[in-house]
Amino acid sequence: MAEANMLPQQRRFGETIRPDAWWVQPLAVFLGFTAFIVYSTWAAFHPGTANHPAYWFHGNGADYLSPFFSPEIFGFSPHALLGPQPAWWPGWLVFSPAFLVLWAPAGFRFTCYYYRGAYYKAFWADPINCAVGEPRSKYLGEKYFPLVIQNIHRYFLYLAVVFIGILSYDAWMAMWFTNANGVKHFGVGIGTIVMILNAVFLAGYTFGCHSLRHLVGGFLDAPSKVPACMKSWQCASCLNKRHMMWAWISLFWVGFTDVYIRLCAMGVWPDWRIF
Ligand code: FES
Repeated sequence: MAEANMLPQQRRFGETIRPDAWWVQPLAVFLGFTAFIVYSTWAAFHPGTANHPAYWFHGNGADYLSPFFSPEIFGFSPHALLGPQPAWWPGWLVFSPAFLVLWAPAGFRFTCYYYRGAYYKAFWADPINCAVGEPRSKYLGEKYFPLVIQNIHRYFLYLAVVFIGILSYDAWMAMWFTNANGVKHFGVGIGTIVMILNAVFLAGYTFGCHSLRHLVGGFLDAPSKVPACMKSWQCASCLNKRHMMWAWISLFWVGFTDVYIRLCAMGVWPDWRIF
């Protein structure tokens, strides 16, 4: 009798026997991702001007660089590695240092194993959630083009690890304030804490990456045979257990860090110095 009540294997789109609110999770992912993509795109297209960059706050002796614009390869702040806007920059495109760097963290997130599972559901409804009917009858998976490209994730991981070093350095620079005589001294402002947390949250996300576990595990099927690899694998696994949490906290905080520095630079709110 139980078999008679079962749904046919090929369910219609949205058809399910799940009694819970299965649509809440994909809807939350859709709204969260959309908000971040809209804001980060807007921020990248609004770097401010050469005299008043919106991504660098240097009032009150501070030195806060927005993570969306770091490393600043060309740009308006003293952090710019190769100077101001280059002559070859296309005239039809607004100049923004973010365009030269944002593709790397964006590629890392886009190809992340956790995010793939989340946005396949939220944006492609493929399937819209577990055990819920999907709109397509055929699924080719990630073994075929174009989704086979997602395997590039491990290479974005290498870049992401470099970015952790760069953003940690930016947080370190945010601990040094310039006084009226031009002398740098140690200090902590609210922005310093915001930037330190940004580096910590992004590190928590990056170092819990599935690809990193494989990498530090020594590429072995049995990492326990190599004690150092086993220890590294356990550390990465510890973060990996909460990979979804780190993914969302770090996504929210990196956006907030840009908002914080931008509003300081625009004079909308002050950066309080703790000492
Ligand atoms: S699997 Fe999520 S960052 Fe690598």
